[in-house]
Formats: sequence, C-alpha cells, structure tokens
Amino acid sequence: MRVDVLLGLQWGDEGKGKIVDVLSPRYDIVARFQGGPNAGHTLVIEGKKYVLHLIPSGIFHPNTHCVIGNGVVLDPVTLKAEIEKLQQVGVDVRSKLLISRRAHLILPTHKLLDAASEAAKGDQKIGSTLRGIGPTYMDKTGRNGLRVGDLLSGNFEKKYRFLVAKHRRLLDAYYGYEYELLDESFLEAIEYLRGFQLINTEYYLNHALSQGQNILAEGAQGTLLDIEFGSYPYVTSSNTITAGACTGLGIAPRNIGRVYGIFKAYCTRVGSGPFPTELHDQTGQRLRDMGHEYGATTGRPRRCGWIDLPLLKYAIQLNGVTDLIMTKADVLSGLEAIKACTAYEIDGQQTEEVPFEFTPGIRPVYETLSSWQDDITAIRDKKLLPASLQQYVDYLQQHLKVPLTYLSVGPDRSQIMPMQVLTA
Ligand code: GDP
Ligand code: IMO
Ligand code: MG
Repeated sequence: MRVDVLLGLQWGDEGKGKIVDVLSPRYDIVARFQGGPNAGHTLVIEGKKYVLHLIPSGIFHPNTHCVIGNGVVLDPVTLKAEIEKLQQVGVDVRSKLLISRRAHLILPTHKLLDAASEAAKGDQKIGSTLRGIGPTYMDKTGRNGLRVGDLLSGNFEKKYRFLVAKHRRLLDAYYGYEYELLDESFLEAIEYLRGFQLINTEYYLNHALSQGQNILAEGAQGTLLDIEFGSYPYVTSSNTITAGACTGLGIAPRNIGRVYGIFKAYCTRVGSGPFPTELHDQTGQRLRDMGHEYGATTGRPRRCGWIDLPLLKYAIQLNGVTDLIMTKADVLSGLEAIKACTAYEIDGQQTEEVPFEFTPGIRPVYETLSSWQDDITAIRDKKLLPASLQQYVDYLQQHLKVPLTYLSVGPDRSQIMPMQVLTA
C-alpha cells in the first residue's frame, strides 16, 4: 500500500478541503503533514459549511482516522476550539484524532512575533495570516522550539517560560513592539490537549501501511507558497510540495503513490507577492464575486486572475502529479471569453520557464478560449458539460500532460464528477 498525496498547485485555496472530503471514503487515514492554522479548508455538507484549520478534512467520515503529523505547527488554542465545534455537531474527534509528539507548538508569543515582524516590514510585508507560522518554524529550525511531546514531560512549564522570556526580549529590544501577553487560554488548551492521543505518528502510519491501510496526505497552502520553490520571500515557512509529505509524516519516498494536484479553473492569491496574471479590472472583480473569493482564515479579499500554465507545469513537475482535479469551473460560466497564460515575455523573449523573480517588466502571453454561458452546477455527468468547457478541459490536459480525473462544479460535496476511469 502507498500514501497518496493531495495538494494545491497554485497559491492555496484551490479547494483541497472539499476534495479530501470527497475522496476520504477510500482512505483509512487522512494526515496533515505541514503548515498549521494558516490553512482554512472549507467543506460543504448538505448545505452546511465547515472550515477546518488544523484537523484533517477526512474527519466527517466515521471510519477515517485523522493524523496531525510531525511537520505541522500546532496552536493548541485553535485546535481546542476546532475540536469543540466539531463535537457540537456530533463528530467524535477524540477517538479519531492522533497527534504527533514531534509537531511543534505555536505559542502566543509566536503570534506576537509574527505581528511585530510584519509591522516592521511596512509595505514589504508578506501578508501573513498572523497565526505565528513563520516564528514557530524559525524556532524549529533554530532548535529552540517546544513540541507536543514536551507536554508529557514534567518540566513543560519551565521550558515554556524559558522560551517566552526569549520571545519577550525579542519583542521588547529588537522590535520595540507594544503588546499584552495573554496566555491563560493557551495554558488551558495545553491541559485539554493532554487528554488526546499524542503518539509517535511515524510508527502509527508505517504500521498502518504494512497492514494494507490506505493513507491520504492532505497538503495545506499551495506549491507557489512553498519555502523552496514558491515566490520567495512571499511564501509560507514550510515545504508544501509532495516531498514535504515524506518529512512531515515520516514516510519513505518510495511509499508515495498517486499525487492529486488541485487547481482552480482560474487563479487566486491572498496576501502580498507577485501574481503575473492578476486582473485589476471588472473581470477580476467578477471572479471574486462569483467565486466568493474571500479568505477562509482571515476573510481578506483574494486577488483573482487567469490560469497560468507555466506555473501549473512547474508545480506538476515539482510534485510529480499523477492526477489533476479542477475546481470552480462553475465560476467561469457566463464570461465573454476565457484566457490562459501560456508563456511570459521577458525582455522581448518568450519563455515558459518560471523566472527566479517576477520583476514588473514580465508580461504574460495569453491564448483566448471560448466560454460557455450555461449554469453547470447541477451537472454530474461529463457528457452533459457544455462543449466549450470540454474544450477547455482538453486544452488543459494537452498542455499539462496529466489526466484530469475530477471536475468540481460547486462547493458542496456532491458537486463533482469523474472525468476518467480511475485505475487502482
Ligand atoms: P482550500 O484551502 O484549498 O481547502 O480551499 P478554501 O476552502 O480556502 O477555498 C475554496 C473555496 O471554494 C471554499 O469556499 C469552497 O467551499 C469553495 N469551492 C470548492 N470547490 C468549489 C467549486 O467547484 N465551485 C465553487 N463555486 N466553489 C468551490
Ligand atoms: P490553505 O491551506 C492561501 C499565505 C498568506 C501569506 C503567506 C504567508 O487554506 O490553502 P503565513 O501565515 O503562512 O506566514 O502566510 O501565505 N497563506 C495562504 N494563502 N491559502 C492558505 O492556506 C494560506 N496559508 C498561508 O496569505 O501571503
Ligand atoms: Mg484555504
């Protein structure tokens, strides 16, 4: 048995949560491997919307276990609130959730450091979600961090106070940042967390594999936010690509199976940083309105633009994508025309290679495709799709050279259709 990976090919918010929920019945375990509560994964089940930040999106399936892997950074306060909310709607989180002892903890002071760092950057700010992600990964690689397993040691309080004192010195002396440290809810959440299954998930997952169980690794953020290959420095602080599933779960590379690459029929980005195909006109606003493009974590309006094929090809290459899944095709219905960026023009030369940096002189080169006017949200059979949409799908498959296995036509779990017969 292998670990399949599902991740975003753009700048996040591709609809990963919805697709994980749809695919979960095929998996015994769904595991998050990186990121933290900067993620906002939306599921719509029978008209009811749920947004998950830390808990894997397989949680609504009664037989699926959920793992928060070692590569995740975990905010106990967010996790507690999320668990309580799920319990209120009858989800038995306690028996289904397993948390890695090696996952690093986000402290209240990490969030303050995130805010102080962003404030110090002024108009160069990353546009972070301010969930403390960057400072927590900095403490991890700087070998100062606190881990979930530390909760089980007798001297957690001492370790916590030691790290907080360091953070306070940074906030006071380096940033000169005004703040009030409220950590009662953190200490309360720590107590709460002690009642959960805090285990060595690398053993759990490898044992499950040896027993023939199916595992789905759920990515957060997107490939273009990856710390190595994203639009640095406007990225997140973790490896969002397939390789991150190995380090973030303790799975050997040869155990990776399918890689599902999720992308929107257009493109969005929230926060700062380059976005070559961004639309600043009425069409961009229309995509935002029709696609309800507002952040699931922060509520910020998402920047919208056309699909970018060189970036998608780059993401497919980095991740070894075996299956493409396109979401939000319904949002394109009713447009006059659809455009796809096929190359960039740099100093008068066309190239498909993603440059080291997107400088302002870079111009996207577009091809225009026919649009469709029909509402497609009730379609469940690919044979009933408008001809222009089928042409768009064929065009993308031809360029991207990977089969599109599903097409999503609305936010609800039911609004999806297979496009190919899935082999084992
Ligand atoms: P994630 O972070 O990748 O899980 O994506 P988000 O949940 O942040 O953002 C995706 C948004 O699009 C959510 O509001 C979803 O409910 C919604 N969504 C997902 N698939 C579709 C689709 O095919 N059509 C439409 N209209 N909305 C979708
Ligand atoms: P999901 O999993 C979209 C963006 C932020 C910011 C940058 C760094 O829902 O797709 P961070 O808080 O990580 O320091 O922010 O990354 N970002 C996301 N954008 N979807 C996400 O997650 C994101 N997580 C972080 O907006 O630009
Ligand atoms: Mg999201």
